Amino acid sequence: MKAFIYERYGPPETLRMAEVDKPVPKVDEVLVKVLAASVNAADWHVLRGKPLFSRATLGLLRPKHQILGGDVAGRVEAVGGGVTRFKPGDEVYANLLDHGYGGFAEYVSVPVAVMSLKPASLSFEEAAAVPMAATTALQGLGHHGELRPGQRVLINGATGGVGSFAVQIAKASGAEVTGVTSTPNLDLVRSLGADHVLDYTATDFTRGGGRYDLILDTVGNRSVPDLKRALAPGGRAAVTGFTSVARLLGVSLRGGKEIAQVQAHVTTRDLELLSELIEAGKLRPQIDRRYRFADIPAAIAYLEQGRARAKVVVEMA
Ligand SMILES: NC(=O)c1ccc[n+]([C@@H]2O[C@H](COP(=O)([O-])OP(=O)(O)OC[C@H]3O[C@@H](n4cnc5c(N)ncnc54)[C@H](OP(=O)(O)O)[C@@H]3O)[C@@H](O)[C@H]2O)c1
Repeated sequence: MKAFIYERYGPPETLRMAEVDKPVPKVDEVLVKVLAASVNAADWHVLRGKPLFSRATLGLLRPKHQILGGDVAGRVEAVGGGVTRFKPGDEVYANLLDHGYGGFAEYVSVPVAVMSLKPASLSFEEAAAVPMAATTALQGLGHHGELRPGQRVLINGATGGVGSFAVQIAKASGAEVTGVTSTPNLDLVRSLGADHVLDYTATDFTRGGGRYDLILDTVGNRSVPDLKRALAPGGRAAVTGFTSVARLLGVSLRGGKEIAQVQAHVTTRDLELLSELIEAGKLRPQIDRRYRFADIPAAIAYLEQGRARAKVVVEMA
C-alpha cells in the first residue's frame, strides 16, 4: 500500500510517499481502508520531534513510528479475532495518537478502543475532522466538571481546530460563550454560535474586566496570573494548547487546582458522545481547506503556520 513515511525528524518536506506492507490487524484491532484523514498540530510536532523532550517517547535519534497521521475516517476492511462490535463494510472514524499513528496511508490497523461508527450525516472528510480536535474540546471543557447552563465560558483560540468545536460544544451545554479570535475571523466565531466575540488584536481578555466561570485556552499563550485575573470567583481554566515549553511548565507547575494543563485521549465513549451531538445537529465540523493524499506535506505546512480557520482535511481518493 502507499503511505507517507518519515525516517528522520524535520520539516514537512521530510515526508515521502513510499510503498509499504499493508498492516495486519491484531486480535483487538480493525483494518480500516482510509478514505479521509485530518491534520492536527500534533502531526507537525511529531514530524519535527518537538518539543525535544517528546523524543523520549517518539524515539531519541529517529522516529519510532514512520507513518504519521492521527485522525482517520474510512471503511472496515477486516477485523481481528476478538472484535465483535465492527464488521467489514462498517463506516468508522478514529484517532491513533495514543497508538503509534499510521493514518497517512491507504490502510491502517485501529484498536477498537479509539474508534466508533462514523456519524451518518457526515462525509468521510467531515468525519475525519472530528476525533482529535473535538475530543480535546470536550475533555478540556469537562475537565473541571460538567458544564452547566448559564455558565460564562471563554474560548481562547475560537477559530482553531479545537476552538471551533469548543464553541459549539459549550453552546450545546447552554453556556454563555465568548470566543477570542483575530479581526478577520470574528464572523466565523459568531457563526459557530458564540454569544460574544473578542478581537485579540484590540482587546486583551485578561485585562478587559470580563470574568469567566470557565476558560478553555486552546492556544496556550497566557500565563497563570493572566488566566487567574480573568476567572470569576470559583472559576476554573483548562489549557489544551501550548506555545512554549516555559508556558507549558508554568501552567503544569503553578496552575494549582484552578488551572489545569489537559492532555486529551480519544476514546470510543467520547466519539459516540460527539456522534450524538452531530446527529442532533448541535455540532458540525468546519472545514477550512481540503488537500489530496499526495499533498499531505503541504497540508501540514499550512497548519503549522497557525492561521487555519478550523479544520484541514485530506481526501484519500
Ligand atoms: N492537549 C491536547 O490533547 C491537544 C490536542 C489537540 C491540540 N492541542 C494543541 O492545542 C493547540 C491548538 O490546536 P488546534 O488544532 O486548535 O490548532 P490550530 O487549528 O492550528 O489553531 C489555529 C488557530 O489558532 C488561532 N490563534 C492563533 N494565535 C491566537 C491568539 N493569540 N489568540 C487567539 N487565537 C489564536 C488562529 O486564529 P487567528 O488566525 O485569528 O489568530 C487559528 O484559527 C496546539 O498547540 C496543539 O498542539 C493539544
